[in-house]
Amino acid sequence: MPCLRFPIDRPDNLRAAVGRITDPLFTGLLENGSATVDLLERLCVPVPALTIGELLGVPADLYPDMFDAATAMFTFDSTSKESGRRLAEAVGWLTDTFVALIASKRATPGEDLISGWIRARDDDDALTEDELVSLAFLMMLAGLENAVLITASMIATLLCSDDAPATVAAWQAHRSELMERVAPSPFSIRRFAVADLTFGDVTIPQGDTVLLSLIGADSDPARNGRRSLMFGRGPHYCLGAQVTNLIIDAVVPELFVRFPKARLAIPEADLVYRESWRSHGLTSLPVILTP
Ligand code: HEM
Repeated sequence: MPCLRFPIDRPDNLRAAVGRITDPLFTGLLENGSATVDLLERLCVPVPALTIGELLGVPADLYPDMFDAATAMFTFDSTSKESGRRLAEAVGWLTDTFVALIASKRATPGEDLISGWIRARDDDDALTEDELVSLAFLMMLAGLENAVLITASMIATLLCSDDAPATVAAWQAHRSELMERVAPSPFSIRRFAVADLTFGDVTIPQGDTVLLSLIGADSDPARNGRRSLMFGRGPHYCLGAQVTNLIIDAVVPELFVRFPKARLAIPEADLVYRESWRSHGLTSLPVILTP
């Protein structure tokens, strides 16, 4: 594996790098003095996009189109032809973009994860070409979706809470509970039954698609306080959990330190959430910031 600019095996390096990414974005928020800004667009999308893009080696100018493509995928509505067209276009564009990016990194490797995975494929046959493309695709998309949505939802929840400053002061104590409350992914990645499965009086036939409800499992009293499943469990445990925590720590408490008087620019009831069963999150987060 090549030496990364901020190796993920050293959380302090990654934390410092996320700080370097967030700092100019925070500073840029008040370029025009006291202002209403869409924090989703100005902070919650760029921080994860630039952080994960830097880790993977995805050029920064691609992330706005990648975010739009991710939104088209995660808001797909099977009853709408237009939504189906947008989904097909998004998947096609993303696949072509990652295939081209991998080809260019194969020719000129960098010090990033995708270049490392190419080496693992070409030198050690550790994964197939399809797995390489889908791993890069999934890392970027999962990052753009989940880290963006959870950061925005946490900020909105704190802005709507009467005791936001007190909550932020006790940030570490409330962080996990807040994350679990606004977790953007209600379901696991889909699975397929490799044999007939019977639970009680229900049988899932072999070959059927299975979606596991993480929220349902987490709210089952029988779990009796066991660790949340919001990042999954076992061999497919979320590869981005650590970086998500770092992004949230760099963005959410820092916003309230820099802008203690921050408030929603619209009534809470007017906040618009995306229409999607796949992921829960805001479509924008208009906030009034004063220095
Ligand atoms: C709030 C943020 C996030 C949440 C709630 C979340 C949730 C999850 C969950 C539940 C799974 C397991 C799915 C399953 O077993 O079916 C998963 C897997 C995964 N996540 Fe995340 N994720 C988040 C952020 C990220 C980020 C930022 C990245 C990339 C940098 C990422 C990359 C992945 C990948 C690649 C997998 C697949 C792992 C595998 O199949 O082995 N996730 N995530």
